[in-house]
Amino acid sequence: MKMYDLINKKKHGEILTAEEISWIVNGYLSGEIPDYQMSAFLMAVCLKGMNVRETTDLTMAMAHSGDILDLSAIEGKKADKHSTGGVGDKTTLVICPMAAALGVPVVKMAGRGLGHTGGTIDKLESIPGLRTSLSEEEFIAQVKRCGMAIVGQTAQLAPADKKIYALRDVTATVDNISLIASSIMSKKIAAGADVIVLDVKTGSGAFMQTLEEACALARLMVQIGEAAGRRTCAVISDMSQPLGYAVGNAIEVDEAIRTLMGQGPEDLLEACITLASYMLTGVGRAKDEAEARKLLMGTIRDGSALQKFAQFVREQGGDDSYVFHPERLPEGSCVCELPAWEGGYVTSIRTDEVGMAVQELGGGRATKESRIDFGAGLKLCKKLGDSVKPGETVAVLYTNEEEKLKDASLRLRNAYTIGPVPAEGKSHIYGVITGDGETIVDEVTENAAFIQNRDQESRGQ
Ligand code: URA
Repeated sequence: MKMYDLINKKKHGEILTAEEISWIVNGYLSGEIPDYQMSAFLMAVCLKGMNVRETTDLTMAMAHSGDILDLSAIEGKKADKHSTGGVGDKTTLVICPMAAALGVPVVKMAGRGLGHTGGTIDKLESIPGLRTSLSEEEFIAQVKRCGMAIVGQTAQLAPADKKIYALRDVTATVDNISLIASSIMSKKIAAGADVIVLDVKTGSGAFMQTLEEACALARLMVQIGEAAGRRTCAVISDMSQPLGYAVGNAIEVDEAIRTLMGQGPEDLLEACITLASYMLTGVGRAKDEAEARKLLMGTIRDGSALQKFAQFVREQGGDDSYVFHPERLPEGSCVCELPAWEGGYVTSIRTDEVGMAVQELGGGRATKESRIDFGAGLKLCKKLGDSVKPGETVAVLYTNEEEKLKDASLRLRNAYTIGPVPAEGKSHIYGVITGDGETIVDEVTENAAFIQNRDQESRGQ
């Protein structure tokens, strides 16, 4: 086989065989296929797409490019969650300790920032000492001891995805449904959890900007997960504005910790409780969502989720004093407030641009080799629907490199639209797709009607 021919084949929209896909994945991993050919191939996939069969083959080739974790040494059903990527999305840092505090073993393999979105591993590394790179033995031992582990991809787990992910991040080849589905599901399958809860984001800060695209991505991932024998469910959630108020790395860890302390923003808490409730029902720890929600809120109220997070930090080598004193986390020394340029209401936020503003401040990577400034980030003071007076602070920006403030402020200013009429509130959760069926809430009627139940319809019920 020749990579040139396969790039050409995909460029013309032809369907690749399982053998060809596996050859590309293994060739890139071994270094026989160089970055420039892989980049061209990924761009061809972005432009011409892949069908479900090709996507499943790509997922399996990446999952099997390394080890498939055997978690049988850990008792009980293991749960995992994954987001398709958002801005200000620190849900993992809240959900995992809540679920683990209730005795659900959480095995979480997380990623780094991708495109305009942040990554859990980058965020966690802002806690001094915390190790995100564990061997398989250490990973299993950590879950047995603590009930949860959050690690980056090891060299052994889905290494092909790791290499392709880093390339996509810098070649504008992120926002393709097949590439996202296969990237996420290859990691989830390799990481070995029995129950997988997916958070599929939709809106201006998501890779899938419309509800329709998000549903298509969710269905594809649920299909792949169920085919691999994992109980998989996808929650479709809103990303038309950042989740919570903090966007960056250390600043998001701070907000997640405050949420565990019971002082978090409502939208973030609601997203966390919803996602975690599917983990609990999936493993059988709660009989229904109502019971799960009650149990989860209890872990915030009694402090057990915060204690679990501190234990996790400690046992993965981090300094847990930061959990009890999050104000000590890194914060950029150069600070600038963005004043409102006119009065009115926040009517829309280009959330991807908010993510790019954080990148410009130093919170993301411009190239594969870039180093992250953990103290870079921003705190939004105004969100959708909020009223704004001229000159009032819309957001506060942080960085350690003063020269970055000007461009980032301009970018953030352009991300906001202020208008005379308040924006309609968005429902945060649009629906849920499982292997048994789906319930999607209509974006227009907002929670008023359940408009779809595919499997019941297809079974003629
Ligand atoms: N998260 C991933 O792990 N991969 C993607 O492609 C997008 C989000």
